[in-house]
Amino acid sequence: MERTFIIIKPDAVQRGLVGEIIKRFEQRGLRIIGMKFIHMSEALAKKHYAVHAERPFFNALVSYITSAPVVVIALEGTNAVAAARATIGATKPHEAGAGTIRGDFGLEIGRNLVHGSDSVENGVLEVANFFSEDELVSWNRNTDPWIFE
Ligand code: RTP
Ligand code: MG
Repeated sequence: MERTFIIIKPDAVQRGLVGEIIKRFEQRGLRIIGMKFIHMSEALAKKHYAVHAERPFFNALVSYITSAPVVVIALEGTNAVAAARATIGATKPHEAGAGTIRGDFGLEIGRNLVHGSDSVENGVLEVANFFSEDELVSWNRNTDPWIFE
């Protein structure tokens, strides 16, 4: 089953949108297999966003994601990576479609509310970066056969 990694970023937590955002992934049909409320360390933030290390916005990105608590979530489902990215919306919230999380709640790229893995490979790596195996729950929902064909 495909895995994807979600961060409910500091702005979304501060704005009281945790429940609203989790609801959208739940109603999409994705299955929660791990969830934690953490204040991310600088080291973990730099590792998570290592691909952007040379970009001009890197320092701002690390300070933003470590500025206040976040919720990290591991999700599982068929096409979990693409489905979660579609639910999140485009990186720039002012370009994100209505009905997406960023399109409904955001305006600026540096306050774009949510992270979602951008490939199947990164989904696996990012879940493993933030969760130990014993923090992940392997389970079957009673609704799975009505969501996964
Ligand atoms: P994310 O990784 O957070 O899910 O976002 P994404 O895939 O849609 O966008 P990505 O290109 O991976 O960028 C990572 C995060 O860096 C911040 N950013 N700021 N100021 C800028 O030009 C700029 N570009 C990117 C955003 O917070 C973006 O989500
Ligand atoms: Mg990204």
